[in-house]
Amino acid sequence: MDKQHYSSMLKPYKQQHLVQFWDELSDEDRSALRAQIDSIDFQRLSELASKKSQQIDIVELAKRAVPPKAIRLNCGEEQTKAARASGEKAIRDGRVGMVLVAGGQGTRLGFDLPKGMFPIGPLSQRTLFQMHVDSLRGAMKKFQCEIPLFIMTSPATDQDTRDYFAQNNNLGLPAHLIYIFQQGVMPAVDAMSGKVLLESKSQIAVSPDGHGGIVEAMKKNGILTACQAKGIEHLFYAQVDNPLVTACDPLLIGHHLISESQMTTQVVKKRFAKEKVGNVVAIDGKTQIIEYSDLPDEAAERRNSDGSLALWAGNIAVHVISCAFLQNCSEDSNSLPFHIAHKTVPYVNESGDRVKPTQPNAFKFEKFVFDLLPKASVALVVEGDAAEVFAPVKNSDGAATDTPAFCRTSLSQRFKRWLAAANVETDESTIVEIHPLWAFDVEDVKSKFSSPLKINVDTYFA
Ligand code: UD1
Repeated sequence: MDKQHYSSMLKPYKQQHLVQFWDELSDEDRSALRAQIDSIDFQRLSELASKKSQQIDIVELAKRAVPPKAIRLNCGEEQTKAARASGEKAIRDGRVGMVLVAGGQGTRLGFDLPKGMFPIGPLSQRTLFQMHVDSLRGAMKKFQCEIPLFIMTSPATDQDTRDYFAQNNNLGLPAHLIYIFQQGVMPAVDAMSGKVLLESKSQIAVSPDGHGGIVEAMKKNGILTACQAKGIEHLFYAQVDNPLVTACDPLLIGHHLISESQMTTQVVKKRFAKEKVGNVVAIDGKTQIIEYSDLPDEAAERRNSDGSLALWAGNIAVHVISCAFLQNCSEDSNSLPFHIAHKTVPYVNESGDRVKPTQPNAFKFEKFVFDLLPKASVALVVEGDAAEVFAPVKNSDGAATDTPAFCRTSLSQRFKRWLAAANVETDESTIVEIHPLWAFDVEDVKSKFSSPLKINVDTYFA
C-alpha cells in the first residue's frame, strides 16, 4: 500500500527507484525512509537539478565586479570611539547574540570529531569551541551582561557537539545561554540522470544544506522567536574554525549600528590572488561574495596600477546580521540560491550493490549565508587586519596554508602585540596565550601592567 503510494507520488519526478527495495526492508527502515521521502521537496529538487545549465554566468558577473566600498575597523579616533561606545551599549543592553556555525566536518584537517573539538590553544590546548566560549564569557564579564550563544550543527556533528558541551559543564557557559540547533540536509543527485542517490537500500544520500541553511534552521528551531523574546536585535556570526574572532566584537557591532546596516561583513586584504577566501565585491552597486572556487583567474589576478590586487577584499566569514532582516529573509524559503557542487558520493545501484565512484558522480546543493548580502538594503563592509582577526584552521599541519601550527603562532603573536602595547616585551621564541577572562582585549592587557616588563618564558595568562 505504502509502496504504491510512494511509487506514484515519485513517478512524475522519475524517482520511483527510491522505494525499489521496499519489500526487503524492516518496519523500522521503512518508516525512516518514509520520513526522508516526506521531507524532500521533489518539485524544487528537479527544478534545481535541471537548472544547472542555466546557473549564473560567473565569468560575466566577475567582469562587472569592482572592489567594495569598505571602512576600516579602526577608522580614526573619533569614529572608532563612537562605534565602540555604540557596540558596547547594545551588548550591555542585551541586544546582541552570537551565532557559531559548526556543521562542517574537519575532513581537510583529518580530524574525525566536530572541528570545534580540535585543540588549538598555543599553551592551554583549549579546543576551538572552548576558545569561542571563553571569548564570549570574556565579553559577558567585561560588559556585565548575558549573551546567548546559538550553535548550528549538522547531522554529522550534532550528537558529538551536544555530548561535548554536556560532559564539559557547557564549557563554563550557563546552560540557559546555549542553544544547539541542527541545520537541514539536501539529497545528492546523480549528475547524469538527476536521480536521487540511495546511500543504502533504506537511506537517501544526503548532506548538510550549507551554512545558508541557517536561515531556515533558525526559523524552524524557534531561534528567531527566542531572539525576539529576549530582545536580541543583532547577531554576531562567526565560523568555528577561526579562534582569532573576538566574540561580539563591540567595534564591528558599533559600525553596523551606526551605519544602520542590515548585514555587515568583515574582510581582510587577500595575501595573494588565488587565496582560498571568498571575494567580497560590488556588482551593480550591490555587495556580494564570489567564492574563491568560482572566481575566474582573470578577475583574481586583476591589478591596480600600483600592482596591488583590484579585488582585494577577502571574506573571513564574520558578519553582524540584524534579526529583523533575518526574519524577513526566513519568510521566503527560496530567499537564498543553491550552489551546486560536483562531488564523489557512494551509492547503492539498481542491483542493490554499493558503488564507490572514484570520480565526481553527483551534485550536492548548498546555500551560503553570505548570499544574504545583496538582499540587504544597507550592507556594510569593514576591513580588519588579518593578523588580528583571521587564522582559520582548515588543513592539517604540513599544508601550505591555514594549518593548526599557523593558527597557534598567529594567536601567540597577537597576544604578544597586546603585551607590547602594555610595555611588556617578549622574546621572539616565547609563546604567550591570554585567556579572555584575564583580558578580553588590548585595553584590558594595558590595565594589568603599571611598569615595563620583560618575559622570556612561555606564559599563559589565565
Ligand atoms: C569559507 C567561505 C569562504 C571564506 C572562508 C573563511 C564558504 C562557502 N566559503 O570557506 O568564503 O573566505 O570560509 O575561512 O563558506 N558549515 C556549516 N554547515 C555547512 C557547511 C559549512 O555549518 O553545511 C560551517 C563549517 O563548520 C565552517 C564554515 O561553515 O565553520 C565554513 O565552511 P567550510 O566548508 O570550511 O568553508 P571554506 O571553504 O573554508
